[in-house]
Amino acid sequence: MEEFKNMDFATRQIHVGKEPDQYGALVPPIYMTSTFEAVTSQYFYSRISNPSLTLVEKKIASLEHGEAALATASGIGAISSALWTALNAGDEIIASETIYGCTFSLLKENMPRFGVKVLFVDMADIENISRNLTPRTKVVYFETPCNPTLKVLDIAAIAKVVHDYNPDIKVFVDNTFCSPYIQTPLTLGADVVVHSATKYINGHGDLLAGFVVGSSEFIEKCRVIGVKDMTGSVMSPMNAFLVARGLKTLDVRMEKHCSNAEKLVEFLRQHPAVEKVYYPGLEDFPGHEIAKKQMSRFGGMLAIDLKGSREQIGEALQKFEVCTLAVSLGDAETLVEHPATMTHSTYSAEDLKAAGISEGMVRISVGLEGIDDLIEDFRRVLDTLV
Ligand SMILES: Cc1ncc(COP(=O)(O)O)c(C=O)c1O
Repeated sequence: MEEFKNMDFATRQIHVGKEPDQYGALVPPIYMTSTFEAVTSQYFYSRISNPSLTLVEKKIASLEHGEAALATASGIGAISSALWTALNAGDEIIASETIYGCTFSLLKENMPRFGVKVLFVDMADIENISRNLTPRTKVVYFETPCNPTLKVLDIAAIAKVVHDYNPDIKVFVDNTFCSPYIQTPLTLGADVVVHSATKYINGHGDLLAGFVVGSSEFIEKCRVIGVKDMTGSVMSPMNAFLVARGLKTLDVRMEKHCSNAEKLVEFLRQHPAVEKVYYPGLEDFPGHEIAKKQMSRFGGMLAIDLKGSREQIGEALQKFEVCTLAVSLGDAETLVEHPATMTHSTYSAEDLKAAGISEGMVRISVGLEGIDDLIEDFRRVLDTLV
């Protein structure tokens, strides 16, 4: 990894982690093995580590500027393995009130079953964090931009407030919406980055995967406690191979996701069926200045509030021809979904309101299709609402 340390992102996404191959193969083989010969191998058992996983772990550590990374079976596998590693009964978490629905239910419904107290706050106001820190706080947890409202949170400012209070509290950032191409939270003061690599990192919608990135000490603990003993959430070698393949084009894919999103936003802002557009790139979007500071581009995710009843919106969403009505994000295909009934159905009506998720909100993961075809698809569907 050292030899690529100062090279461009594009070079590192392709080359970091490759070992010399006995046959000179350009693409590393897939190590489909559960165990390793005990006397000679540096590996032991694939629930702990495997050469196919080491390759992608080195790539992600390099791209996120972390000391080390751990590959997991899914994003929730990464989040739960890392949290179970960091926490004990009696500890407290301060979490953003606007987060992915299953992370929300992990924190709201399930962590408390094991004696962990979780407080949800609006982290756009940093006072909400500083006045709730206690000697029992062990983790501060958020996404930015938040799923699905795209609310932007100030990573450097949050990390500073938390670490000024107690440098041992771990600031976790879910960087799924950006990928390391757009944002690197560890360089802004965060301690742990988690990813659903199911999304942009793999980018092809054909697997589930996750990563935890951080200090070598924390990642080693996650490996031997979080994954080996607690969740068993191991990435398969086959999926590691596919993730390595997807990663080779992360930068070019992200550039097109961002450019397509910017053009789609321009169109949506003008359409009479659209009440509001949520996109960090809009100059009048709250958090735009923070986004400019911590993101290299504004991303491929956006949301809109549509006019009309829930039934009318539900019917309209079934009329797309190019886009697909589906959860998930970061794929080549444009995916459209209704957070209140799909990704965030784990939220109560009250929680949805607190998180700023409206009844008429539609989340869009802008894909890599021709932008004119996407705009035409949206025009046809949205025209049915006016
Ligand atoms: C921001 C975010 N984090 C984590 C996850 C969970 O990832 P996975 O589905 O890979 O478990 C998702 C899934 O949609 C997500 O959107």
